[in-house]
Amino acid sequence: MRVVVVMGGASPEHEVSLASGKGILKAVDLLGHTAIPMVIDAEGNWMDGQHEAIEILQACDITIPALHGEGGEDGRLQGFLEQLRIPYVGSGIAASAIGLDKQLTKALLRAHGIPVTPGITLRGTDLTDTEAILQKLKVSALDFPLFVKPASGGSSFGVTRATNLPTLLTAIADAAPDVLVEQELVGREIDLAVMEFPDGRVDTAPALEIHADPEQPFFNATAKYDSSATRFVVPAPLDPELAERLRSAAIEVFEVLGCAGLARVDFFVPADGVPVVNEINTSPGFTPASQFPRMWAAAGMSYVEIVDNLIRTAVA
Ligand code: DAL
Ligand code: MG
Repeated sequence: MRVVVVMGGASPEHEVSLASGKGILKAVDLLGHTAIPMVIDAEGNWMDGQHEAIEILQACDITIPALHGEGGEDGRLQGFLEQLRIPYVGSGIAASAIGLDKQLTKALLRAHGIPVTPGITLRGTDLTDTEAILQKLKVSALDFPLFVKPASGGSSFGVTRATNLPTLLTAIADAAPDVLVEQELVGREIDLAVMEFPDGRVDTAPALEIHADPEQPFFNATAKYDSSATRFVVPAPLDPELAERLRSAAIEVFEVLGCAGLARVDFFVPADGVPVVNEINTSPGFTPASQFPRMWAAAGMSYVEIVDNLIRTAVA
């Protein structure tokens, strides 16, 4: 098969995407397919040229979007591929668009009774009105420490842990235009990898627990990508009841959003043991060292086998 891997992109996660794409290209090649890299530069330009890119896409059998963040993980690329009638790996337009918008994800999950991180969203004139911000925090019973994040970001870029009002206001300005302010949840940080199989079955791999670099204020981009002190424990040590709760919650999140192919669902587990969804990633980090392939490795699937499964599922 001719397999195009789209990577790079104009989001802050450009470099992460290039690393994911590189790993996937190698796996595609090892599977005996023709691996075709397609890079979007950091300004959002297709390196092949827009017309040539369309021709290359139309001549392929399947496309793997290895983009993270806005422009690639948010339904835009998926819509473009749908228009060109090109089969692709992963979630469609709606699930991608909802999944990248943490506010929409939370609203949908809340409506299905799935616990999510308590928080508020600030947009437009909310962003500069300190009184209005304080009032909203009070009404929602939110108190420091708070987490401030762009509603549609990834890799923790633009995320701040705010412990007082001046930090909060700076953090909100940094995360604009659409900003989530969330309560800090103290507890374990556990991720689940969800994958679809060619027969339609949706399953999870053993969970992964994050032990972020204690030198960092939280599992930020430095702890994610630059720190040797961050540890991932797979399988996470969980009692069978919690393991099953996480597994069924992750599959429910996948299904409520209408995801396809793959997703990583990130949870907090506070002291009461009830998992709270932090977010979903419909295009999770996909370097050989990323959480998603590590979890499936614990289920006995190699990186190449995962890529093979994703391709087979997308064309099934
Ligand atoms: N957004 C990054 C790539 C992740 O979720 O792994
Ligand atoms: Mg994310």
